Amino acid sequence: MKFFVDTADVAAIAELNDLGMVDGVTTNPSLILKSGRDILEVTKEICSIVSGPVSAEVVALKADEMIAEGRKLASIAPNIAVKVPLTWDGLKTCKVLSGEGFMVNVTLCFSANQALLAAKAGATFISPFVGRLDDINLDGLDLIADIRTIYDNYDFKTQILAASVRTVNHAKECALIGADVMTAPPAVIKSMANHILTDKGLEQFMADWAKTGQKIL
Ligand code: E4P
Repeated sequence: MKFFVDTADVAAIAELNDLGMVDGVTTNPSLILKSGRDILEVTKEICSIVSGPVSAEVVALKADEMIAEGRKLASIAPNIAVKVPLTWDGLKTCKVLSGEGFMVNVTLCFSANQALLAAKAGATFISPFVGRLDDINLDGLDLIADIRTIYDNYDFKTQILAASVRTVNHAKECALIGADVMTAPPAVIKSMANHILTDKGLEQFMADWAKTGQKIL
């Protein structure tokens, strides 16, 4: 499973990228707001750090304007994936931009039927939101599994980009289901390294090592 990092925080992206943990980046208007940066500038900077796909989201609601925005965003760097919402206009935009050879990430997906439409419109990535379904007491992971089954049934090439991944359990389950990609905030990716028994074991080893009175360096 590829790891995309869900942030426009350049320092956080660079830190994870140096460890080889970043296969791509996803941003959205809320994350751009949080960064306090200009969308074109910060996206260009991210693309200079990360060689994998960097999703940048259109904000128009009509297809013709979305297409124009998408072309502008795609001109930032060759590794831009234009992010469009899963609306009828977003699907039209997906069809046009993917036909022009651009990567397209269809976002705000909350049903298997929406994912089916995105695949037929030529999406490079479909972004089902796991955490936001959990927020309304539905099982977001069930949606990832349903889309995996449907895409495999018909050999769709659209990659399942599990989004709104909020917990380490979401990450593990997405990997077990076979999501192609997950995108998660830096803190979630980092917390995948944590285990209480690792901490406990390390504490014991350190205590015993101190008793030996030895040094390695
Ligand atoms: C995906 O591309 C979105 O940016 C993101 O995963 C949404 O996550 P949230 O529901 O935690 O805001």
